[in-house]
Amino acid sequence: MSTEYETIELAVSDDGRATVTLDRPDSLNALDDRMAEELLDALETLREESARVLVLRGRDGNFCAGADIGTSPETTAPHEQTRRFRRLRRLFDRLESFPLPTVAAIEGYCLGGGCELACCCDTRIATADATIGVPEITLGVIPACGGTQRLSRLVGLSRARDMILRGKHYDAATMHSYGFLHEVGGDRSFEVLLKDVVEEYLARPPVAIEFAKRVVNKGYESPLDAGLEMEALATGVLFGTEDAEEGLDAFRTNRTPEFRGE
Ligand code: COA
Repeated sequence: MSTEYETIELAVSDDGRATVTLDRPDSLNALDDRMAEELLDALETLREESARVLVLRGRDGNFCAGADIGTSPETTAPHEQTRRFRRLRRLFDRLESFPLPTVAAIEGYCLGGGCELACCCDTRIATADATIGVPEITLGVIPACGGTQRLSRLVGLSRARDMILRGKHYDAATMHSYGFLHEVGGDRSFEVLLKDVVEEYLARPPVAIEFAKRVVNKGYESPLDAGLEMEALATGVLFGTEDAEEGLDAFRTNRTPEFRGE
């Protein structure tokens, strides 16, 4: 399956790999309003597909150099700007709570809104020469697509404050040491690393992945007691799935499970 968009490309292979490619290479895949709308549409479209993992990446060796600052906004009225950022927020919220596992495949520049998109993904991998940061402060503004909140939850308050207030660029090794990147393409090529991560997710049980993601994300924002209750409820549901039956049987009979998402 392949859907035509102007600023992104969406492709889903028969075995369930969905790839969304940010496709504005002339501006290092900067995120404009059209791209945000198309990304939202792609996430909606993917809900109808039988995809099992979503990869987000950028065209021509860069992930995304942030919100599009090449063109002036149509309006500078403060209330209109606030509405615009609320609309953008929908995209980032939906990506974060997307029911499939999501992988940010980061090459080259991953700045500002690009870094904030990556923050919403479950797994972040990068090439060794990737450059990551939230430089908005150098423009007189602040990260406005969840960066002030999600980045600190991922890398810790101390590092996030330093990153956001100084607006520096960081290399992949540093962001790996911060816990932002899960793996960095080193000896193995980046595409091999990406393929391995995608294949791990394809082999996992989809319903358990969806529930685990919800419980972890919702539980993190809740009192411990409420989070533990969510965990117990989700576990009860999952033990009733065919996938759990398959996983337990495969373990007992020493074979590889085949999960069908049921
Ligand atoms: N929005 C719109 N266009 C952007 C962009 C952005 N966020 N980032 C880069 N571009 C465009 C440049 O204007 C340039 O276009 P041009 O060829 O028509 O002049 C093209 O992408 C290549 O960028 P350039 O600056 O020439 O490349 P570089 O290798 O010298 O520098 C960066 C790359 C990423 C360091 C630099 O482009 C940059 O700092 N971009 C802004 C990053 C940022 O502040 N993001 C947060 C936005 S809120």
